[in-house]
Amino acid sequence: MKYQKEIERRKTFAIISHPDAGKTTLTEKLLLFGGAIQTAGAVKSNKIKKHATSDFMEIERQRGISVATSVMTFEYKDMLINLLDTPGHKDFAEDTYRTLTAVDSVILVIDSVNGVEAQTRRLMEVCRMRDTPVIVFINKMDRDGKNRFDLLEEIEKELKLSLHPMTWPINSGKDFKGVYDLHEKSLRLFAASTKAEEEDTIAINDLSDPLLDAKLGERDAAQLREDVELVEGVHGELSNDDYLAGKVAPVFFGSAVNNFGVKEMLDTFIRIAPIPRSRETSVRLLDVEEDAFSGFIFKIHANLDPKHRDRIAFMRVCSGRFERNKYYHHVRLDKDVRFSNPYSFLARSKDVIEDAYAGDVVGLFDTGNFKIGDTLTEGENFYFVGIPTFSPEIFKELVNKDPMKTKQLEKGISQLTDEGVAQLFTQFGGNKKIIGCVGELQFEVIQYRLLHEYGAAAEFRTLPYYKACWLTSKDEKKLADFLRFKQQNSAEDKDGHPVYLAQSEWFLNTEISNNPEIEFHFSSEVHK
Ligand code: G4P
Repeated sequence: MKYQKEIERRKTFAIISHPDAGKTTLTEKLLLFGGAIQTAGAVKSNKIKKHATSDFMEIERQRGISVATSVMTFEYKDMLINLLDTPGHKDFAEDTYRTLTAVDSVILVIDSVNGVEAQTRRLMEVCRMRDTPVIVFINKMDRDGKNRFDLLEEIEKELKLSLHPMTWPINSGKDFKGVYDLHEKSLRLFAASTKAEEEDTIAINDLSDPLLDAKLGERDAAQLREDVELVEGVHGELSNDDYLAGKVAPVFFGSAVNNFGVKEMLDTFIRIAPIPRSRETSVRLLDVEEDAFSGFIFKIHANLDPKHRDRIAFMRVCSGRFERNKYYHHVRLDKDVRFSNPYSFLARSKDVIEDAYAGDVVGLFDTGNFKIGDTLTEGENFYFVGIPTFSPEIFKELVNKDPMKTKQLEKGISQLTDEGVAQLFTQFGGNKKIIGCVGELQFEVIQYRLLHEYGAAAEFRTLPYYKACWLTSKDEKKLADFLRFKQQNSAEDKDGHPVYLAQSEWFLNTEISNNPEIEFHFSSEVHK
């Protein structure tokens, strides 16, 4: 219980959205409120622009930016907030999924014009696996968006998430007049602002107050009264427990670029968002208040420059106090390691940190000792669960172009897959190496890095698979027979677990129904 005070002042979260919904803009406003930056435009968008999908300089430049902004730490109202950045580009979605295992809550940004988009759905699925508490920010209210009731219904239905409006908008687009804060019972009139200023707030405890008509005009005031009656009738008070259990998501309406609606969301976040919580491990529930240090690696960032082969492993502290230069137990390798230069990220006063507590993220310089999911402790042997790997979406055979460099190629592909850049499968019976990624961009990155960092020339041959499923069965013989009969579609993952590579949904469903004794899993977590 030594570090209770430190734990209680920390909130670690991520902002997720479909690209272009306004994540970068909102991040910047939060940093302005936190005093971490002084001017708008200080946070560079880390998204890889759509037109630059195969431009390596662009990828490298963006990667440079994204390390610096990977974790943004700022203080607000005596709380220490760790905001973990997630890549916007779809091809790097795996990185985002893993970052979500390191946060305690998320803010989901939805574009009021476009509503729920493809990436939002996937990201929410990952949040749901861990019951991550979600706050929704409906952005771009200054544009003509969807009808607010329809939008809420769409979000609830598409994301299977119960919503609880905390503010209610008055019109949208050119007619956007502001929001009524249902919790504070006050009216905030819309005005564009790029600074962290107090908004123009008018207390309206009773909606029949004629001041409402004076401020909004009779028609809009009447509409607001009608809307609020309806909304309050349906939703009542927000239950914090339901929010913390990931069952209900508070919703705010605003316009990030105009810095409108951001402050009330941040204030609510500070009030209700979870502090670091206890976590499940392979052997027991790890109490966040335990004195002994523990943490896990959720992301590895490699340097694309061949002159600097160092990598940064991102570690989330889960309990105790992490100290510079102290030896810790690397559970998988069963060896003691220490770090003389643990790295802190944007907005901390210095680059090297002396210590860190539960909820914090530390960058550890790594020369190849880490892979995703690795655990560090003060001696105990366990690993954290809930760090799943999902099926890739594109599969290609790795073809060695230079037999003299086979060793280099194997080393390179092994290290790159440890970093989580891609997944490696080896076909049963044969020796075919299959690389699976979420996006085309990663294949280019891998090819480039194999050549430049390991001196290995490789090519990719497209394979007709669409999904990988991890297989388990109580009947070992049945599983072995299945893998033998389906040799063309069977492989093992890097840890030796059997995987079925399905050509199409139809094939997959057929195999599932023909083989009731075998379980098909859509993430690798089952093996932990
Ligand atoms: P992302 O990180 O989620 O991909 O989105 P980002 O913040 O980069 O925002 C995407 C675009 O939407 C940006 O415009 C941004 O200015 C705009 N935007 C963000 N919030 C609002 C809002 O509340 N209202 C309106 N109308 N626009 C908003 P851009 O033209 O793509 O880039 P930029 O040149 O303005 O930076």
